[in-house]
This record gives sequence, C-alpha cells and structure tokens, in this order.
Amino acid sequence: MSDVLPPVLEIVGRIPLQGEVRISGAKNSALVILTGTLLCGEDCHIRNVPRLMDVESMMEILTFFGLKIQRQGDTLDVDARHITQSSAPYELVSKLRASFFAIGPLLARLGVARVPLPGGCAIGARPVDLHVRGLREMGAHVHIEHGVVHAVVPGSSRRLKGAKIYLDFPSVGATETLMMAATLAEGDTTIENAAQEPEVVDLANFCRAMGAKIRGAGTNTIQIVGVPRLHAVDWSIVPDRIEAGTFLVAGAITQSEISIFPVVPDHLTAVVAKLEEMGHRIVQDGLNRLRIVPTDCPQAVDIETLPFPGFPTDMQAQFLALMTLAEGNSVVTETVFENRMRHVAELKRMGANIRLRGNNALISGVPLLSGAPVMSSDLRASAALVLAGLAAEGKTLVQGLHHLDRGYDRLDRKLQGLGAQIRRLETPEELAHIPQLALKEI
Ligand code: UD1
Repeated sequence: MSDVLPPVLEIVGRIPLQGEVRISGAKNSALVILTGTLLCGEDCHIRNVPRLMDVESMMEILTFFGLKIQRQGDTLDVDARHITQSSAPYELVSKLRASFFAIGPLLARLGVARVPLPGGCAIGARPVDLHVRGLREMGAHVHIEHGVVHAVVPGSSRRLKGAKIYLDFPSVGATETLMMAATLAEGDTTIENAAQEPEVVDLANFCRAMGAKIRGAGTNTIQIVGVPRLHAVDWSIVPDRIEAGTFLVAGAITQSEISIFPVVPDHLTAVVAKLEEMGHRIVQDGLNRLRIVPTDCPQAVDIETLPFPGFPTDMQAQFLALMTLAEGNSVVTETVFENRMRHVAELKRMGANIRLRGNNALISGVPLLSGAPVMSSDLRASAALVLAGLAAEGKTLVQGLHHLDRGYDRLDRKLQGLGAQIRRLETPEELAHIPQLALKEI
C-alpha cells in the first residue's frame, strides 16, 4: 500500500475575485462523443477536449477496444478503423459510468458487445435498464450474466433494426446510447421522451457531421434514419455549461464581478434565471460571453432539479452552497438522483444552517460560513465545498480531490487566475499537519 498522502486544496476565504475565465469543453459531451468515435471507420479529429481524469479513463477504454488516440493540446486524433475487442473489462468500466454508453456504438458497428454493468455510484443506484430495453427493441439479444451485459445482433447482416422506442424517463445516457446505435441500424428509429440536454444535441451534431441522419435532437422526439456507414469528422466540443454555472456561482458567493467565455447562454437559462431571482444581474456581453454583476443582498430562492431545460442536477450542490449565505429560507429539492445530498453534512461543518428531509434540503441563510477541513463525496459536491471555502472566513481544506479532478479542468488554477487564494498541498511537508478525514459510509 502506498503511504503517499492524497493532495488537499487549501482555500483562504473572503478574497474578492475579478476578471475573466475561459470555459473548457463540456465533460459530458466529450465523454459521449469519444464513445461515438467507435461508430466511425475513419479518422475523428476532436477539438476543445477538456483535460480531465474522466477523459483519460475514457481514452484508456477506447484504446483497449483497439482505437488509436493521440492528444495534442486540447485536440484528440482518433483512428477508429480497427476495433479489436468487443468486451470491456470491469476495472475500466467501473471507473467511469459513461463508458457503459459504448455498448450502443459497439453493437452498431460489430453486432456484438460485452460491457460490465457499471454499478451504483455515490449519488445513486443508476441502473441501465432503459439502455438495455431500447437495444432489445432494436432487435439485439441481450442477457446479463455475472454482472456483464452480453448483447448480440442475430442474423447475417448483424445490423440492428430501427424501432419506435419510448423512454420511461428522459435519461441522458439512454438517449445517447440508443441514438448512436440507431445511426447504423437498418431503417428508421424514433426515440420518444428523449433527453433534451445540450450534450445530446452536441452528440447528434457530431454524428450528423459523420453522415448520420438525425432530426429532432434537443426536443423530446428524436428521429434517426440508419445509414450503412459513417465517415471522417472534424468536431469541436461545446463549452461546459456546468463549469460555466460553477463560475457564475463563484462570482455570486464572493460578490465579485466575473466574466465567463466562451459559453452558450441558452444552455444556462435555468441557472441564470435563479441567479437573477436572487438579485444578481447577468449581463450578456456579445454572443458567447456572460458577466455576473452580484448583489450584496442575495435573496433565498427555491430550487428543484429536473431534466433539461429544467434546473440541472449537476448544479444542485453549488446552488445549495450559495443558499447557505442568502437572506431568508430556501428549499432545494433533488428529483433526478436519490442520494445527492452528501455535501450537506460538510457544509454544516462550515456553519451552514441546513435540515435534510429526504431529498429536500431546508436552508436558513447565515451571515457567514467559517473555514473547516471538509471531505468531497462526489464531483459536484467537491465544487460546492470549494465555492463555500471561497466565501468562508479563514481556511478551508478540501479533501477527496480525485472527485474534483475527474470533472473540472484545472479549477484551482482558473480560480487563482481570478485572484483566489487557493493552492494544492501535495508534498509530505505541506500535508504533515493536515487532519486526514474519512467520509463515513452510509
Ligand atoms: C448524465 C450525466 C450526469 C448528469 C445526468 C443527469 C454524463 C456522462 N453524465 O448521467 O452528469 O447528472 O445525466 O442530467 O453525461 N435511470 C434509470 N435507468 C436507466 C438510466 C437512468 O433508472 O437506464 C435513472 C438514473 O438512475 C437517474 C435518472 O434516470 O436517477 C437520470 O439518469 P441519466 O439521465 O441516465 O444520467 P446519466 O446519463 O447517467
């Protein structure tokens, strides 16, 4: 066992921020577009790929399948001519739920795929029944044995068949898996009650740029006309709306004027509406730049997470942190995942006044938080703790940074660029006096 201590983020709070921050490509787009390269028998040139642990893990899995990937800065060159493996190993899939989404393109391209069930994660059980049901409706024989999903397309053509699929819930991943599978299927597919998230639209546009025939992405009905093959593509990932929203909250919680660029303002409508309801002003400076002009008397507002265009579950933790310092009472309700409130206990250690009732957090704003050692439980929870630390009096020490590094592209460096006093403690000397926290299992 290694005795190297994990790094810790030290934040000195209540320092005003200022300036502009560059938003990276969207994590959730990049991950699924990477699985989408499996559909292509030629070269894929993908730009604006964020530097994230999750992207590294996805590259590892695709390399295992036989793809050749080269990174140059923020660009990935993927040669998807030869797929040498149709089975994914559990060690790789369990690191990254999104790698399960490869089952759709693998099956469409090879007619066979074996991918382990990704299992639950910190925020919920997260089954894949909707993915599996949709693939069956497209003619695949699917059975689950020893924790692995075995899927095979019968018949000599080995091509999936177009189908009319209704999703019980507008699952992002299921919509993406089935849309990718349908691009190479025989005949027409309709996905009803489809997810409308911008990352679904980015994936659809990426597939269209390879020659796929897809209509309706971004609405709740997506129609796909299968084609025999797809061709080479040059694609740039859309900006990350969740990273953008996190920086808007950084401005709000530190009462600092911050500009974010590039962004697609339409992807942030629900987040902007809630910030404005609190009393902040969000100014659009040009096509793809937003600036927060914060109020010094932010009012509490209620939030309920919903599929897009509703308020994103991936912004819930950051807003919950923001509400701890707002004037009045608010209710934050999580409806998408069943266990996504573990940051509440850590925020309470910083002096927040929150009561949890199932998936409702009842928050009474306090005038000030106080810095404390805190532990991240998942990706967005870690961002919420960093945000709380920026506003808290004194020092906050955020542990469990592997969560943050999974999905934020150099968040600490970007915050330093805005003037935040934030640094990574990494050496044994720096970590010697830091209490090592453990997150209690529940
Ligand atoms: C994606 C995002 C994640 C985001 C989530 C919701 C990626 C890589 N991740 O995750 O950041 O928080 O969308 O916006 O894009 N469900 C089922 N059966 C299924 C599939 C899903 O019951 O077959 C349930 C899940 O357990 C969850 C809800 O549906 O409660 C939403 O999940 P889903 O939209 O599928 O999220 P992901 O695609 O996993």
